[in-house]
Amino acid sequence: IKRLGILTGGGDCPGLNAVIRAVAKTALYRYEIEVVGIMDGYGGVIESRSMILEDHHVSGILHRGGTILGTTNRDNPFRYPVGEKDGQTVWGDVSDKAIANLEKMGVDVLVAVGGDGSLFIGNELYKKGVPVVGIPKTIDNDLSATDVTFGFDTALNTATDAIDKLHTTAESHHRVMILEVMGRDAGWIALHSGTAGGADVILIPEIDFSYEAICQKISARQQKGKKFSIMVVAEGAKLPGGEQIYQEERKDNPHLSKLGGVGNVIGDEIQRRCGVETRVTVLGHLQRGGTPTPFDRILGTRFGVKAAELAMNGEFGQMTCLCSGEIQSVPLSDAVKEQKLIQADSELVRAAKSVGVSFGD
Ligand code: F6P
Repeated sequence: IKRLGILTGGGDCPGLNAVIRAVAKTALYRYEIEVVGIMDGYGGVIESRSMILEDHHVSGILHRGGTILGTTNRDNPFRYPVGEKDGQTVWGDVSDKAIANLEKMGVDVLVAVGGDGSLFIGNELYKKGVPVVGIPKTIDNDLSATDVTFGFDTALNTATDAIDKLHTTAESHHRVMILEVMGRDAGWIALHSGTAGGADVILIPEIDFSYEAICQKISARQQKGKKFSIMVVAEGAKLPGGEQIYQEERKDNPHLSKLGGVGNVIGDEIQRRCGVETRVTVLGHLQRGGTPTPFDRILGTRFGVKAAELAMNGEFGQMTCLCSGEIQSVPLSDAVKEQKLIQADSELVRAAKSVGVSFGD
């Protein structure tokens, strides 16, 4: 192997630059090979946009959020816009062109850093003969093949900080404060930040809730003289009846701005039912930005070094993972098999309930 290519795909996440730096420095200095940075995820493969990464490109980036390579969650070589017919986009498979471009770039092995979508594409390219090594990333922490993904810890810190701030204003105004956090169909950010921030109610997609149970919790607090409550709501939380507003967002719903997030819908209903003033904060992409925590910098560095080792040892079709505290690897195909969700009877859910948190069940 003379030249390693690296791309970052899917939504950005704190710690990506730590990964790029670790892969590049290990390749440049330990293995003395060249590194090509591919721009904007698979879009850069399809459109042949790349640059040679040298030491100065990856110096001073460890603490920076985002990704110096750019990213997008649009571009998939197996389903790419190839034209228009009758005002409609025509989709086609341009994977052969993508593979030819990788060859033209002189990439002998591709390190793909991404969430389930980008790793799925990486695995499909691997099945077509491209030497691929994967690195998992997502703030959602919902990949089953690794104990934890980098980015999650930073998002958790941001969400916990927001809860701390909401606490003081909630208390002053005797309000119910709702914080809506990200996480797709999983409630990891909500469960962890809610527990760390001392939330009174945590709503996650994995546990069905009723408005009655939430109102009971709020009024029980009021009877004890606590006139405010803090609720953390995962964006994927299911409304009674099963509707997930987050899923509507995924459908490019033209009425999205009218719908608001799930937090707004729940906030209106709580205010109506419990007669208590309610305010909603949607934390949104603040969770994806900013300086990565030391944990995410270290995990990103460990994943990057391991990926370079896998690449140089010819262990393709593998993805780095953290398993029982150790950096290991698993087949890429395992990475995309199933989403890691919270078990309703898991130890952390039981611990949170034990200290008085209501999950609305
Ligand atoms: O997967 C990461 C994530 O931030 C989710 O938590 C969130 O639902 C989604 O991406 C948002 O995607 P976008 O940046 O495309 O709006």
